[in-house]
Amino acid sequence: MKSIYLIGFMGSGKTSVAKRLSEVLHVSLIDTDDLIEETYQTTIANIFAKSGEKTFRDYETDILRKTPIKDRIISTGGGIIERQENIDWLKSNGIVIYLQTSWQEIVHRLKDDSARPIWNNEQRDKKKMLEKRDIKYKETADYIIITDGKTPEMIVNELITLI
Ligand code: S3P
Repeated sequence: MKSIYLIGFMGSGKTSVAKRLSEVLHVSLIDTDDLIEETYQTTIANIFAKSGEKTFRDYETDILRKTPIKDRIISTGGGIIERQENIDWLKSNGIVIYLQTSWQEIVHRLKDDSARPIWNNEQRDKKKMLEKRDIKYKETADYIIITDGKTPEMIVNELITLI
């Protein structure tokens, strides 16, 4: 089986859906953010604070290429599509699922979040960011699943009928 890559904005449910999918399909799970934290022995928030977003994107691009392109479920960071080379790589190497979530739903899900540096940066217009990224997520994806009002179980059931 080709690896399945879950893409989507912060709060779209990539992590929970990936966990559930890996249980149902009995396939190992990888989270690119976790892999970055393990590899560099620090938190994502720390990388942003100490080295900046560009360094984080370099790490992310590098880690993506190290993910096995077979027999894995891979949850990616919301900004993976910020680099065209990552879009190209995903399109040619994986089955890519876009978990599409509305702005209202994201705001609701992330209201108490304090761990995500971009979400918690007041200077960034996250709504605009979602609008821009939505185009890139769609360009990258083989399949799109709308997640609003759905549990990870419901999303996985839907996903299994697609792949
Ligand atoms: C980011 C999303 C985060 C993480 C980093 C940057 C983004 O992952 O990779 O904070 O640019 O949207 P999640 O999508 O899992 O929150």
